Amino acid sequence: MESKIKILNDKLAQAYLGGGQDKIDKQHQKKKLTARERVLYLLDEGSFEEIGALVTHRTKEFGMEYQVYYGDGVVTGYGTVNGRLTYVFAQDFTVFGGSLSETHAEKICKIMDLALKVGAPLIGLNDSGGARIQEGVRSLGGYADIFYKNVQSSGIIPQLSAIMGPCAGGAVYSPAMTDFTIMVEHTSYMFVTGPSVVKTVTNEEVTSEELGGASTHATKSGVAHKTSSNDVTCLEDIKKLLSYLPQNNKETPPLLPFKLQDEIREELSSIVPLDANKPYDMHKVISGIIDEDSFYEIHKDYAENIIVGFARLGGRSVGIVANQPQFLAGVLDVNSSKKGARFVRFCDAFNIPLLVLEDVPGFLPGTDQEWNGIIVHGAKLLYAFSEATVPRVTVITRKAYGGAYDVMNSKHIGADMNFAWPSAEIAVMGAKGAVEIIFKREIKSSEKPAEKLKEKEAEYAALFTNPYSAAQRGFIDEVIIPKDTRRKLIKAFSMLENKEIVRPDRKHGNIPL
Ligand code: COA
Repeated sequence: MESKIKILNDKLAQAYLGGGQDKIDKQHQKKKLTARERVLYLLDEGSFEEIGALVTHRTKEFGMEYQVYYGDGVVTGYGTVNGRLTYVFAQDFTVFGGSLSETHAEKICKIMDLALKVGAPLIGLNDSGGARIQEGVRSLGGYADIFYKNVQSSGIIPQLSAIMGPCAGGAVYSPAMTDFTIMVEHTSYMFVTGPSVVKTVTNEEVTSEELGGASTHATKSGVAHKTSSNDVTCLEDIKKLLSYLPQNNKETPPLLPFKLQDEIREELSSIVPLDANKPYDMHKVISGIIDEDSFYEIHKDYAENIIVGFARLGGRSVGIVANQPQFLAGVLDVNSSKKGARFVRFCDAFNIPLLVLEDVPGFLPGTDQEWNGIIVHGAKLLYAFSEATVPRVTVITRKAYGGAYDVMNSKHIGADMNFAWPSAEIAVMGAKGAVEIIFKREIKSSEKPAEKLKEKEAEYAALFTNPYSAAQRGFIDEVIIPKDTRRKLIKAFSMLENKEIVRPDRKHGNIPL
């Protein structure tokens, strides 16, 4: 037996070396961890169980029969993160540049199947030169098998992707179909076609970093939900993100122990300026409401006029969608609508209650917005809120104007509790714009048009730039004092805990894409 065990141990030792010490050293020189180091860092100490360490490819062409590595360029298995079961695959750049062969794909598919059957999150650590060129269509088939499983798992288990090296060509579509993509700054990039193809086709000169680096995807395209400064912070970011999520769509996120005390937050009273045209930072409202330091922002640098992210409120995981008056006055536009809609749908799929903080002057006007389809993209956010069945609570801090009032989780589209601060202005539009339209003739024919405008503005403001006409109709459930907001919200979400809505059977809705 001893000799047989030795054979096994020798094989495993080879597997643990991936493409060999030289390649491992190269990986470290690039300030990257190896696949195995990443998995071990991500999972709780001693919890990793590897699956398929001795798998090898089956290719004979191009002399591949002489280049065989155990594991075939991907480390797969399961373990725990903060004590909770998690499945993981990590592509090993030291073996054929982490390229995806038929067997490499089979290994990933095997753990994807397990994760789906058991109902636990799947984490993909991507670092790969793409399809294994020597395998041709077999490798492309492997990608498609993964894509198909990504879609079958979508909305059932959380799927998170980290991009920790190259991710090019077809490889990009698996992360794109997972729930969140985190990119490591300066060492990772994602693109469908690289700089040399771009140069040939469009004659543009662009570096990999400019074309598809972490910063590009976090600010311009929105492909990356978050960036991390290095491998370790990226893995920490994944662990933290998991802490807000349930294991699957039948469970609720972990509820941390919490005891309600007075929960008064005086600082909330002085954030919103009296002048409705002055900006303020909605992050201050968020941190005034949530459990200390619990905000995990998603898409921080993309479409900054809307803020989305996870937080804890009385120990409960919530998804926050908030207009940001500090950026483009908090208007809704194409990108912010898409950003908000995707986040709302994720929260709804995974039983994470939604908190909306609203200060929105409307939709952004202009040819750019109209020609880029603000109608259909704005509709996404409206649709996403309307279909969400999780507990939904809104607080209007200031403006709630026009169609944007309807869209931002209004009572009319199914919100459960709608609060407003006394500073709320719930109206079709601001006073000046409104009176210029409805009293146009009266103002023009007046002997003192400026005074008339002011008089009419005051009349309109008295009627509409407040929360009370909405409260009279019951569109607002309660006008609350800002300092009480945290307590009100903790109680509201606790009251809504057992909310249940059963929708009629249908194949799926037809969200405007
Ligand atoms: N298939 C097979 N082997 C691949 C591969 C692929 N798609 N991509 C990389 N490799 C191999 C390389 O041949 C090299 O092998 P070696 O160490 O035996 O020489 C090793 O992986 C490392 O690649 P290398 O090019 O030296 O690393 P790099 O950091 O300089 O560049 C890439 C990385 C990803 C930019 C580069 O390898 C590349 O462009 N790969 C092809 C990308 C592609 O077009 N993929 C198909 C589209 S899906």
